[in-house]
Amino acid sequence: MGNRKDRPAVSIAHSLLPSFDINGRKMEIVHTVRDMQIESDIVRKVGKSIGFVPTMGYLHEGHLSLIRLAWEKADVVVVSIFVNPTQFGPEEDLDKYPRDFGRDEKSASEAGADIIFYPSVEEMYPDGYATYVTVDRLTETLCGASRPGHFQGVTTVCMKLFHAVKPDFAVFGQKDAQQAAVIRRMVKDLNLDLEVVTGPIVREADGLAMSSRNTYLSAEERGDALSLHQSLELSEEMIRKGERNPTAIIEVIRETIDAKEKTRIDYIEIVHPETMQPLAKIEDEALIALAVFAGKTRLIDNTVVRV
Ligand code: PAJ
Repeated sequence: MGNRKDRPAVSIAHSLLPSFDINGRKMEIVHTVRDMQIESDIVRKVGKSIGFVPTMGYLHEGHLSLIRLAWEKADVVVVSIFVNPTQFGPEEDLDKYPRDFGRDEKSASEAGADIIFYPSVEEMYPDGYATYVTVDRLTETLCGASRPGHFQGVTTVCMKLFHAVKPDFAVFGQKDAQQAAVIRRMVKDLNLDLEVVTGPIVREADGLAMSSRNTYLSAEERGDALSLHQSLELSEEMIRKGERNPTAIIEVIRETIDAKEKTRIDYIEIVHPETMQPLAKIEDEALIALAVFAGKTRLIDNTVVRV
């Protein structure tokens, strides 16, 4: 991988809007859909490709790994930061979702972002907004079952972001395996002219999957939350040793997580990695996916196994 600072940010469009010099790289913050579309049109017109990483900000190494991946694949990297209200349920953490734009712009720039698309809620959902995108079936299991309406919010905002950014590549994390599958389905079904790229789960040294929500965890909850990754490792080992029965594997995961005081299981499922439908038996590929509360914080983790 090259050094990001060796490659100057592509600044064809940068004369149009004010750009900021961060660590010797020019990076631009774009606030409106119209300005984003103008920039993207210019970039595409001169034959450069656009890699896009949608995020809700409070960037960590997981997000940054996706920005690096976008940088490897495309000439211009756009990162969006938008805490999307339509994907949060009424009892969820929209208001207290962590935000730190100053830190995000610095780390996004270091990882290779050329443009941050940072719209307001009013810009994305003006008065009278009434249009939603729904993907059926694979949104009905796992997180879709636990968080009604969540994926409709995700697909709607991603569709809007894709129309604003006009990417050649859109990069998503395997951490949210169902989200990535739902987006792949939407892109295929609605003939969107872009490629969905997926990056692997980035973990803390002790195995906890990185998440903006980890910041909510007390020391004790964080300790108990390690059981998510530990139980997934146990399940991989069972499969290596020949176990093919999802129920037996789910039981071991359940026991491992239930043994901790601060954890409460939302779901443990073994599904097909594209359709998200439960498997009766593990043959070729399986996604083992978990959602577990540690205290009040809902965490997800998963692994894909191939036999
Ligand atoms: P957010 O939770 O900010 O995540 C943005 C992207 O980073 C997603 O593709 C997610 O899968 C990826 N990501 C998060 N943690 C990761 C980790 N530990 N390793 C690898 N990738 C990781 O997902 C969303 O935002 C939103 O739903 C969004 C797609 C932006 C739509 O609002």
